[in-house]
Amino acid sequence: MRRAVVVGATGQIGRAAVDALARDDWEVTAVSRGGGRDEGWPEDVRVAAADREDEGALAGVVGDGCDVLVDMVAYGPSHARQLVSLADRVGSAVVISSISVYEDDKGRTFDTQEEPDGFPQYPVPMAEDQRTITPGETSYSTRKAGLERELLAAGDRLPTTLLRAGAIHGPHCQTPRELYFVKRNLDGRPRRLLPFGGESRFHPANVHNIAELVRLAAARPGTRALNAVDPDAPTVAEIAAAIDAVMGVETETVLLEGPPPSPTVGDTPWSVPLPVVCDMSAAERELGYRPVLARYADGLPETVAWIEGRLAGRDWREAYPKMFQTYGDLFDYAAEDAFLGA
Ligand SMILES: NC(=O)c1ccc[n+]([C@@H]2O[C@H](COP(=O)([O-])OP(=O)(O)OC[C@H]3O[C@@H](n4cnc5c(N)ncnc54)[C@H](OP(=O)(O)O)[C@@H]3O)[C@@H](O)[C@H]2O)c1
Repeated sequence: MRRAVVVGATGQIGRAAVDALARDDWEVTAVSRGGGRDEGWPEDVRVAAADREDEGALAGVVGDGCDVLVDMVAYGPSHARQLVSLADRVGSAVVISSISVYEDDKGRTFDTQEEPDGFPQYPVPMAEDQRTITPGETSYSTRKAGLERELLAAGDRLPTTLLRAGAIHGPHCQTPRELYFVKRNLDGRPRRLLPFGGESRFHPANVHNIAELVRLAAARPGTRALNAVDPDAPTVAEIAAAIDAVMGVETETVLLEGPPPSPTVGDTPWSVPLPVVCDMSAAERELGYRPVLARYADGLPETVAWIEGRLAGRDWREAYPKMFQTYGDLFDYAAEDAFLGA
């Protein structure tokens, strides 16, 4: 039987990826610091508690070896080197990267987006041969680029598929962008504001589609970087309408030309001035990939139900501390009403 070790197994991608591998006859060891398990996993999934930052811990769970090591939580060159150091016992790797490694033809990236004219102007759709940011230790994106560079260079020792994920969504997400509209609907907000004419597109990636890419890449080792996004990239106005449809509510949308009028008014997690839309044809060609969910909206019932459950009886900042940390106050209704009133 083929053996897979999955690091970061109890996170949003990990839960789905472990499930997809186990149901495809992989013998799976699901690794996280807490050593938890998802109640939906087949019983023969083994769990292991290990912190990949502890010297020797990852080597310990790999043990005599595995056919594939799937890594959800690799961030920089040192994690790449850690994986490559296990190459004598690991057949191949599948590692989650991010579309934030991309740089536009003028050197603009997500790191420059706050600068004047700093938002990257990417081709639509963007393929994997788009240039990438210079690796370094300065940001999440430069570290992901460093991770990629080390792993791609070591492909002769450890064949590695890097999956460049878009805006991840699904159950168990700790920073669900959908919260922005779900909570407004739960709070009975009759109107919402969307900057950039509601046309912003920031390519989503459902955890089940990413898990399918993991499953296919595990069976077809190779050294490559592939986009990992949904088949469609709806506009933020379409996302909002799809969430309304799942929740059975009607909301008036007020469209604004240009950027959000202030940091806490209309600045949804998808509201970008230029489209970020990726091409999936390389994964289709190289892995025979077909999405599990054919449309972004197909994943929403599960995601919305998960968010509603997590919010029940709790302040959103308590339910989603990482969301608050990342985006700040997403629900400044007083500022929103003042703007609409004016
Ligand atoms: N969120 C997005 O929109 C987005 C977009 C592009 C790419 N990504 C990438 O997606 C990946 C994150 O995946 P995710 O969202 O599924 O993660 P997640 O939901 O935050 O879960 C993280 C998982 O990793 C485990 N973990 C964390 N630190 C660990 C360590 N030191 N040793 C062993 N296990 C550890 C956690 O469990 P314990 O806490 O029990 O250890 C948990 O199982 C990252 O590579 C990120 O760059 C995210």
